[in-house]
Amino acid sequence: MSAKILITRKLPPDVERRAETFFTIKRNKGDVPMDQARLVELADGQDGILATVTDRIDAATIERLPATIRIIANFAVGTDHVDLEAAARRNIIVTNTPDVLTDATADIALLLLLGAARGAAQGMAAIRENKWANWAPTGMLGISLTGKRLGILGMGRIGQAIAKRAQAFGMKIHYHNRRPVETVDATFHATLDELLEQSDFLSINCASTAQTRGMINARTLALLPKGAIVVNTARGDIIDDDALIGAVKNGHLAAIGLDVFNNEPNIDPGYRALPNAFLLPHLGSATLETRNAMGFRALDNLEAFFVGKPPRDRVV
Ligand code: GLV
Repeated sequence: MSAKILITRKLPPDVERRAETFFTIKRNKGDVPMDQARLVELADGQDGILATVTDRIDAATIERLPATIRIIANFAVGTDHVDLEAAARRNIIVTNTPDVLTDATADIALLLLLGAARGAAQGMAAIRENKWANWAPTGMLGISLTGKRLGILGMGRIGQAIAKRAQAFGMKIHYHNRRPVETVDATFHATLDELLEQSDFLSINCASTAQTRGMINARTLALLPKGAIVVNTARGDIIDDDALIGAVKNGHLAAIGLDVFNNEPNIDPGYRALPNAFLLPHLGSATLETRNAMGFRALDNLEAFFVGKPPRDRVV
């Protein structure tokens, strides 16, 4: 008999079709993000869960999961929404989907860098609200990427893919990471403070962990040169919203570009009031090709596990 898998959100059709050929699937009809109680209820009688970023699988949820659950295959690279220690305590394996979303997410980071630097949000508003009076030599002046220093916080796969793209735009790459990465042509900074002092642009690409949460706050933002631009394609909780909004309002930052937020989708309304904030609704991996690849990778992990092989992307 095939293993029973709860899929917590609607997935692309090709992924769902493949899932059905290997497993007996239980779905979240309606595709609404589930609260913990509903997740535990639907997990009843299942062997595994194919979960994603809208599922807050904290320690209390993991403790209440039925004993039949042996694996949580995460449809995302980030696993900050799953309490990994609690999963380990219950011998539940957790997997993620690295590699397959690197390029799509790096593309969105470049979109944010360009969108923020070139005033794309104001430009689009001018067109949509029919307020574009005429072309003016001094109108809507942005900031060039060429020749500027891009500081990358977190030089993992996505950070490296952003570095490659930004180099093609003529940017000089600086980074802070737990350790230097030999394969990148970039300047390593042993501390975040040192990186910030050298960054005309800052791209946040580290995982959300106890160490990185709130790392971008009033103190650290003040270390950036005046007129810097901050973009985030990692996780919202690495940033202190009040501090970031304050730094844009008081002119310390020229602009920001965000694809991820605290408390998505109920973002701090202060962001909407900033004309120089280029904002996207967590689109990092949102192409059909990438979402298919993420789904297939999550299924690779589940299929391996249920035929008794080690899943390739085990994080716990
Ligand atoms: C999306 O945010 C992911 O972590 O894959």
